[in-house]
Amino acid sequence: MTMLLAIETSCDETACAVVRDGKEILSNIVSSQINVHTMYGGVVPEVASRIHVENISAVITEAINQSGVTMDEIDGIAYTQGPGLIGSLHVGVQAAKTLAWAYNKPLIPINHMTGHIYANAFVADLKFPLMALVVSGGHTELVWMKDDWNFEVLGTTRDDAIGEAYDKVARVLDLGYPGGPVMDKLAKQGKAHYKLPVPKTAGEFDFSFSGLKTAVLQLAERERKAGNEIIPEDLAYAFQETALGTMVGKTAAAVEHYRPKMIVLAGGVAANSRLREMMKEAMAKHPETELVIPPMWCCTDNAAMIGAAGYVAWKHGLTGGFDASADPGLPMPGEI
Ligand code: KG4
Ligand code: ZN
Repeated sequence: MTMLLAIETSCDETACAVVRDGKEILSNIVSSQINVHTMYGGVVPEVASRIHVENISAVITEAINQSGVTMDEIDGIAYTQGPGLIGSLHVGVQAAKTLAWAYNKPLIPINHMTGHIYANAFVADLKFPLMALVVSGGHTELVWMKDDWNFEVLGTTRDDAIGEAYDKVARVLDLGYPGGPVMDKLAKQGKAHYKLPVPKTAGEFDFSFSGLKTAVLQLAERERKAGNEIIPEDLAYAFQETALGTMVGKTAAAVEHYRPKMIVLAGGVAANSRLREMMKEAMAKHPETELVIPPMWCCTDNAAMIGAAGYVAWKHGLTGGFDASADPGLPMPGEI
């Protein structure tokens, strides 16, 4: 049995969890800063790191108390090393090192994106080869996993991440931050009215959302100048259908080509109801590939997912020393 304490502070959630054997969550504390960042219309890195500093001790204490285990029973400390905001990452890395030093525990540095993928281990027995569509505020990646802890990035975004595009379009429509959930809701009441250009990329499995975002901004500007009122529901609908349509289309093409046993969704944008629907529709043609759609709580940032990935890294002997530091641009393991 392996009991891990996991710490996640890569963006705007201060999180700590205790996870047994990468599957059983004994505690999972997430302290969100979203109310603060909403006032600024987006995550302010300096503010985020300060709030992490203020909250981290309480979050760790609460995670240990709720789990009912003592530090003696903890086998290792998994923590998010990157990618993410440097100031935010530092807080979690320092907390992990302090605990590891004080209690003489091994450290397990974890890539945040692997955490998003392994969050699916809480709801399914992962089957390899596996394909993961990792979609968040900072990333849009199609990852091929021939085997456990074997990552190959097949495609990525050439510019904006999908979540970033959602947030930027939402800002133009004055919908506040984060934009994804609001746009998701609005689009449900929208209809096909505005037409947006379908994003094009050179790479077969690469994505691009910056052109689409600009097209939304230009459309809004044109309508404003012409004295027409913008219908936010219809614009959200047009953006969502176009952005998710190309993304799901490319994912389906990758499934067709690679024939994985399982495809999993991961990251904050995996919470999107239309994406879930589109993936189900697209995968209906591939009954040999099992589709796993994680529940909302394990799509967005949390520390349990770092514990799940940490367990697999631990099994592979991937512990790290005190010399490892936060890396905002940390690549996927094996990609170096
Ligand atoms: O994974 P995450 O919590 O943090 C990062 O690692 O980036 O993802 C946050 C992103 C934000 O851009 C947010 O707008 C987006 O996920 N998001 C959504 C939805 N819920 C969250 N995007 C579209 N539809 C949603 N329902
Ligand atoms: Zn994330």
